[in-house]
Amino acid sequence: QQHRRLISRQRFINDFSQCLYEFVIQLLPTAEEMAVKEDVRKLLERLIRTIEPDSRLLSFGSSANGFSLKNSDMDLCCLIDSGERLNASDLVTMVGDLLERETKFHVKPLPHARIPIVKLTLDPSPALPFGIACDIGFENRLALENTRLLMCYASIDPARVRTMVLFLKVWSKRRKINSPYKGTLSSYGYVLLVIYFLVHVKNPPVLPNLQQMPPLRPISEEETHLNGYNIWFFDDIELLRQRWKSSNTETVAELLIDFFRFYSRDFAYNTGVASIRAGLLKKETKGWFTDDHGTGRERNRLCIEDPFETDFNVARCVTKDGLYTIRGEFMRASRILQARPDRAILALAQLCE
Ligand code: CTP
Ligand code: MG
Repeated sequence: QQHRRLISRQRFINDFSQCLYEFVIQLLPTAEEMAVKEDVRKLLERLIRTIEPDSRLLSFGSSANGFSLKNSDMDLCCLIDSGERLNASDLVTMVGDLLERETKFHVKPLPHARIPIVKLTLDPSPALPFGIACDIGFENRLALENTRLLMCYASIDPARVRTMVLFLKVWSKRRKINSPYKGTLSSYGYVLLVIYFLVHVKNPPVLPNLQQMPPLRPISEEETHLNGYNIWFFDDIELLRQRWKSSNTETVAELLIDFFRFYSRDFAYNTGVASIRAGLLKKETKGWFTDDHGTGRERNRLCIEDPFETDFNVARCVTKDGLYTIRGEFMRASRILQARPDRAILALAQLCE
């Protein structure tokens, strides 16, 4: 009896891994979509150069870190290499006016946001059935670096890491717990939870800690610091692929099941900070308290340290209700996967219902 159960569980795990791979593959953007997006980037870059000749427009976020889904929005960052730079708010206003005049995009400049951006959208058309949504920010070099860090983590073990991340992105969108504006967590936050889990929770770890590996040669303070933050990490992927071989051989299904279990009951939400740079930290030592000082705004219920901007809690928008909902969803997923389902494909459908 016991033996039969074990075999059927093993079969479920194998089927579920296979289902996850197949599910995720059909969610990836097509080559055509990526080509259209690259054309849009070039067009916008050309236009912006008419007012800032020394500027470059670079992709970051999902279109550049290997975690992109079909029809995901584009995150673009404008870097200006020389000259007297205008501040980000003025640039947002100027570039907003320019794109309003010169393109068919709907343009919404947000010069006074915490990170000033121009929001662009293009209506759906036969060639682009979902339209395009794009945000342009300025001089956000830390975002370019954290994109590169996620990209490196993704390429160390793409089969397991990308599958987990892409699945969680779809799952969190379908379960409606991927809206920082409504008190839940950004995609970036979920990606950091996955990496934290694979570096610090799994034993043996699935991924190395790229920010703590010794550099190949001595490096100076200037090379490693940006706006006062240490942005160094081991980024020689070719070498890593040769040298790093995880002794963790769990399948993607086993890792995902364990991920849901860990974040539904084991993570120390009340006192802990998930840091991919340093492991589990204490809210207390970071000075991240939940007390709202009577402002009525929830802060630091869930704490995820940004890999470089270490005084920044990526999950600061998550409210008490938001966290309750997110944990409820982790528990629901865990329950579905523990309930000895016999058809993996049905379990997957139920998860994303
Ligand atoms: N980012 C950041 N700090 C945050 C949120 C986002 O630096 N608090 C930057 C990161 O570089 C991240 C990028 O913005 O990679 C995009 O974030 P997000 O839209 O949450 O992630 P995507 O991977 O682009 O997800 P989606 O496909 O849902 O847009
Ligand atoms: Mg994005």
